[in-house]
Amino acid sequence: MKAIILYVSTHHGNTKRLAECMADSIGADLVDLTKEDAPDTSGYDVIGLTSGIYHQSFHDALKAYVNDTDFAPHQRVFLADTCGTSYRDYTRGMRKLLMEKGVCWAGSFQCPGYDTFGVFGKIGGISKGRPSEKDLQRARDFVRRITRE
Ligand SMILES: Cc1cc2nc3c(=O)[nH]c(=O)nc-3n(C[C@H](O)[C@H](O)[C@H](O)COP(=O)(O)O)c2cc1C
Repeated sequence: MKAIILYVSTHHGNTKRLAECMADSIGADLVDLTKEDAPDTSGYDVIGLTSGIYHQSFHDALKAYVNDTDFAPHQRVFLADTCGTSYRDYTRGMRKLLMEKGVCWAGSFQCPGYDTFGVFGKIGGISKGRPSEKDLQRARDFVRRITRE
């Protein structure tokens, strides 16, 4: 099983921590889409797309990657994000895009991430200390489970 995780993390590095932890736990390759062009992912069995949530959405670089990529039927794709307020499932928009492309869906993961955007900055931010060690353990369990299936 060969896995790769693409990530964008521009606010506090919250998603970078999440993506690194996931990649470590399953031995996946890791690509920062703000530093590198989207790689050729045709040789991978599992592809993880991870992002902070910016204005209720995954980062445009990940949407562009999905739009530009032809996924093979055997390739399984999962989504993961960190967000300031996690009561809403922010993976839904990206999931719809993936479904329209007929990808093999592996699942999604979301957890809070320290957020000082806009007014939250004036009150010292929200979701301080997240992702926490408990969040990261949940993330490890999630990727290990979907890569075993
Ligand atoms: C420009 C901007 C817009 C944001 N919009 C949202 C949002 O719509 N909903 C939300 O829950 N969090 C929002 N956040 C908070 C981030 O999703 C959260 O802090 C996330 O963990 C950032 O991940 P990162 O540090 O990997 O970039 C926003 C943050 C920024 C900087």
